[in-house]
Amino acid sequence: MTARADSSLRVLVTGATGGIGRATCFALLAAARGRGLDFAIAAAASKRGPALDALVDELRAAGAQATGLAEDLADVGACGRLAQQAVAACGGLDVLVSNAGVSRSGPLATLEPADWDAVFNVDARATWLLARSAHAALKASRGAIVAIGSVSGLFPFPGLGAYSPAKAALLMLCRQLAQEWAADGIRVNTVSPGLIRTPLTEPIYRDEEITRRRMDAVPLGRIGTPDDVARAVVHLAGPDAGYATGIDLRVDGGLCDHLLSTIPGKPRPAPPR
Ligand SMILES: NC(=O)c1ccc[n+]([C@@H]2O[C@H](COP(=O)([O-])OP(=O)(O)OC[C@H]3O[C@@H](n4cnc5c(N)ncnc54)[C@H](OP(=O)(O)O)[C@@H]3O)[C@@H](O)[C@H]2O)c1
Repeated sequence: MTARADSSLRVLVTGATGGIGRATCFALLAAARGRGLDFAIAAAASKRGPALDALVDELRAAGAQATGLAEDLADVGACGRLAQQAVAACGGLDVLVSNAGVSRSGPLATLEPADWDAVFNVDARATWLLARSAHAALKASRGAIVAIGSVSGLFPFPGLGAYSPAKAALLMLCRQLAQEWAADGIRVNTVSPGLIRTPLTEPIYRDEEITRRRMDAVPLGRIGTPDDVARAVVHLAGPDAGYATGIDLRVDGGLCDHLLSTIPGKPRPAPPR
């Protein structure tokens, strides 16, 4: 059964089986429910397998019209194919969440060009190619794009190879798309997560001492969850953000603005008298 444009929320989420992607799928489903809409989702992974099958089963059990799609977003032709498959499966498209991302660490002095390309192709180029292929469908629905950036796109992250440059490119790509497609009624925004505990970062958080020190660095005093990011995505994708385009929503517990607080010898507030 094809979803109806006037009574459904139709979405494509990439990296859907990962930590933030999975949380986003279910947060969008809950948002559709809250607005009394049917929910059609194309959940995309890099390959077919038990993780994608299980996610699609769970979404269907929760009442979604769910389709699992698999494409390698590092491949130039695959991005367009994926967007077209999603539009066909959902009967149109209201929201594209470009969430898939990779990182390959290494100092820039020795980074291999192949590693640079691998990161840029997924973390920056794929969003443009997906958006380009979904443009007509998003224009028809006056839809929205939300891409997942990173605080690493706002600040350099020495040793993390091309990740910071690629996420910085993604943020500017989305600002430019927002300008070019505003006349089509398509909003384009980004979410930049800080320290989030997901399968990608789980190896770091298995170390209790590092986890404690990271929590100390976050003014809100905790590591973020995939749901923290998913809620921001839902906000930017939905009608409550209907006048927001070209913005980046930093979801980092205050991490980035904490820098000046760490300067030794900074003035301390006077103790209460
Ligand atoms: N976790 C954090 O602290 C953090 C902070 C800032 C930003 N982010 C960003 O948030 C997004 C989600 O990250 P996460 O932490 O949820 O990581 P994750 O659990 O590893 O999820 C990343 C997803 O991207 C997909 N992906 C990677 N390469 C792909 C490719 N070539 N083609 C198609 N899909 C591909 C993976 O799909 P498969 O599993 O099917 O390969 C995976 O599901 C990423 O863009 C990441 O850069 C994360």
